[in-house]
Amino acid sequence: MELTVAITGASGSIYAHRTLIQLAASGAVERINLIMSESARTVARVELGVDLGEADSTRVNEWLKLPADSKLVRPHRLDNLAATPASGSHMQAGMIVVPCSMGTLGAIASGAGTNLIHRAADVTLKEGRKLVLVPRETPYSAIHLENMLKLAHAGARILPASPAFYHRPRTIEEMVDHLVFRILDQFGVPHSQGTRWKGGE
Ligand SMILES: Cc1cc2nc3c(=O)[nH]c(=O)nc-3n(C[C@H](O)[C@H](O)[C@H](O)COP(=O)(O)O)c2cc1C
Repeated sequence: MELTVAITGASGSIYAHRTLIQLAASGAVERINLIMSESARTVARVELGVDLGEADSTRVNEWLKLPADSKLVRPHRLDNLAATPASGSHMQAGMIVVPCSMGTLGAIASGAGTNLIHRAADVTLKEGRKLVLVPRETPYSAIHLENMLKLAHAGARILPASPAFYHRPRTIEEMVDHLVFRILDQFGVPHSQGTRWKGGE
């Protein structure tokens, strides 16, 4: 399976980090096209203390603890509208935007294809492939909510970064991974989750 993962400048870089790590660990994904917005790199510096560079495989492999020569994750420059995710004729299963800023959400909702993230999301929708958006903002304005509704009507899956607590997470990682597993579920990617609800009260 091939997927595109986009990271934008909403809070929650850790969600992107864990999503990439879990996709890599699944063994079910052969290629991840990675696109980062400029703000994503700023937020990752603030929240995780990492400098991811621009389309820099070496830094990305280091960040994900992958072998230096791993080709699993292929970073693309944000302005490269000739990259494979920009074309519908390039086959892939879909795209995840995690975390998804309100700015990117609005751009996708408007159909603007002005950078590779917006264009790849637009292509994913027009081809009827799965687009999973993980928005993070609080509170939401009416504009944010309308954009989300518009995108849901267009076929996107809105999977907000709202952590659950019923599995009693003990660490931030456990809390984040619970949400990440829900993202992987959207694509049928296997994972080691022991936190599925099995019924109760
Ligand atoms: C530390 C930090 C946290 C931010 N958190 C959010 C957020 O949670 N949600 C959001 O929509 N924007 C957030 N922003 C603002 C976005 O980064 C900004 O709107 C940016 O233009 C989004 O661009 P992008 O969609 O191309 O990444 C944050 C910015 C910074 C610096």
